[in-house]
Amino acid sequence: SAFAQERPTARLAGAPDIQPRTHASHKGSYGDVAVIGGASGMAGAALLAGSAALHAGAGRVFVGLLDPRAAPVDTSQPELMLRDAHALDLAGMTVVCGCGGGDAVRELLPRVLSTAAALVLDADALNAIAVDPSLQAQLVARGQAGAPTVLTPHPLEAARLLGDTTGGVQANRLAAARALASRFGVVTVLKGSGTVIADAGDEPPVINSTGNARLATAGTGDVLAGMIGAALAMRRPAFEAACEAVWQHGRIADLWPADAAPLTAGSLARRAPD
Ligand code: APR
Ligand code: MG
Repeated sequence: SAFAQERPTARLAGAPDIQPRTHASHKGSYGDVAVIGGASGMAGAALLAGSAALHAGAGRVFVGLLDPRAAPVDTSQPELMLRDAHALDLAGMTVVCGCGGGDAVRELLPRVLSTAAALVLDADALNAIAVDPSLQAQLVARGQAGAPTVLTPHPLEAARLLGDTTGGVQANRLAAARALASRFGVVTVLKGSGTVIADAGDEPPVINSTGNARLATAGTGDVLAGMIGAALAMRRPAFEAACEAVWQHGRIADLWPADAAPLTAGSLARRAPD
């Protein structure tokens, strides 16, 4: 597939822009991302996803926090526009939903599923969908409507969605990714060593060739969700957006200098060692 080849821009640096910036462009050319997550005690996951979207080139990034006591600004990332998740207008937005969402994300999912222009569903958003048939029906409706939608489960989250065990998912990762993609009619990224990206149609899934165990640290999944969100906001088709972001996420880890400090999710989002 096109994804398996190193694109010309990808040879220039470890973390190229997903979309080259033309001279006459403005921030509206690169789309709006809204992260929904950060329930009490888990703001970090949402902020990491927002940071990753910003550094992947999204034009504007809002972070809708579910914790009503959340701080109004992250002074270390002032570009991120922090909002109350319940008050965030999602019309026209690419939404990245679930990062650190806890149980609180559930009540926002009907609105997210019906209004997001493009959507990445991760972590607790997936866990909520796994136990709620009405949310599952809404997800299927998005797929049928052709609304760009990407699921990013790790093996346990995939197992919950499939009514299987983690062992069952891991024993046939290609089949598991495919089953989720076809069941909901959306792109599915089954994470882990050898991340699988499956499309809803008949195309065979892709196994990503980049990445390594440096990524086995908390928050790297939130960073991936934000990177996919940025690619969707830049109007990349969902399957390409997922493949490209997964490839770049792993590529950054592969190029991490051996003599640098260990990769952390924050440094991965910023695409450089601290
Ligand atoms: N090789 C390649 N990629 C890897 C490897 C590996 N050995 N280990 C991890 N990764 C990548 C995955 O492919 C994925 O992109 O790192 C990312 C990890 O994402 P998640 O599993 O979603 O982990 P994350 O959400 O960042 O943090 C763990 O998830 O289950 C919850 O509560 C749990 O706090 C924990 C959190
Ligand atoms: Mg995760």
